[in-house]
Amino acid sequence: MKRMLSGIKPTGQLHLGNYIGALRNFVKYQDDYELYVFIANLHCVTFYQEPRVLRKNLKDAIALYLACGLDPEKCTIFLQSDVFAHAQLGWLMACQSYMGELSRMTQFKEKSQKNDEGITAGLFTYPSLMAADILLYDADYVPVGDDQKQHVELARDLAIRFNNRYSETFVVPEPLSPKVGARIMSLSEPTKKMSKSDESDKGCIYLLDDLATVRKKIMSAVTDNLANVDYDKENQPGISNLLEIMSSLSGEAIDSIVSRYQGKGYGEFKKEVADVVCREIEMIQKKYDKIVKSDLIETTLKQGAEEASKISYRKLKKVQKKMGVDIF
Ligand code: AMP
Ligand code: TRP
Repeated sequence: MKRMLSGIKPTGQLHLGNYIGALRNFVKYQDDYELYVFIANLHCVTFYQEPRVLRKNLKDAIALYLACGLDPEKCTIFLQSDVFAHAQLGWLMACQSYMGELSRMTQFKEKSQKNDEGITAGLFTYPSLMAADILLYDADYVPVGDDQKQHVELARDLAIRFNNRYSETFVVPEPLSPKVGARIMSLSEPTKKMSKSDESDKGCIYLLDDLATVRKKIMSAVTDNLANVDYDKENQPGISNLLEIMSSLSGEAIDSIVSRYQGKGYGEFKKEVADVVCREIEMIQKKYDKIVKSDLIETTLKQGAEEASKISYRKLKKVQKKMGVDIF
């Protein structure tokens, strides 16, 4: 069975973009791959996070992973900081990464421009840690949204570089992104991606938003004045985004939705999008409510950390030996 690994960095509440672009796909993959998913909490702290808020976001993220259908009997779910090999290999990978290539990372460029409070060294070496996350497990595939592809490319480069320098050690991973839904856009500014760093909350649907809020956000989503439901990202980014959301949740092809709505208004279309999204979110929230009251989060993480530690420790030792860091 091929191995697959991915992580989510919950510096905020998980949103519909995370769900469609990442989380939901993991649930499908757990039957066909040996799947490792983790909460990238070390990646969260490249900027200051209020500790109480961070703790809640991490816990909610795990509960939501489980509520969305990830099954600890089928895959390994863990918290990055519980598995010590990540930080250790992260350092060794930082020592394989060049300043030049890390400076070229789009996410670093964007985030360092936006932030005027001081850019941490952690933000800069973040992709080296991410490479370690992936390479520790010999992952064949890494499912990620479009924005993370460049980081997976770096992980590939580092794997190849290491293998050439020290002999075959790492599997060279491949990024995997969904065809529809790799980039869900903001509802209020459909040319920007849906993100927890949205300036206004109106554009972002959180998985834990109450259903009335979800509906309101969809009904007031920005559209255009062409008054025709069409999939045309350039001229109708808002409508195209709603089409992608609906298609990826309902499974109905975009073409088929478009033809059903010929000659009909945006109001009617939005109402169906809202119905589809609310149905999905309601199901998730019902499960979430049960999970947070149980001890499932704790037992899942304990079991996950044990399994992940075993595999990753072996890999770390191998790397340390090859590098000459380990003596015996
Ligand atoms: P982030 O919330 O940025 O840490 O992203 C977690 C995962 O969700 C990554 O695989 C992202 O690529 C994916 N993701 C985040 N925002 C979106 C979005 N608007 N559309 C699709 N996927 C997304
Ligand atoms: N950087 C990813 C994000 O921002 C999270 C992440 C960390 C990740 N390590 C990973 C994703 C390894 C895939 C594989 O969402």
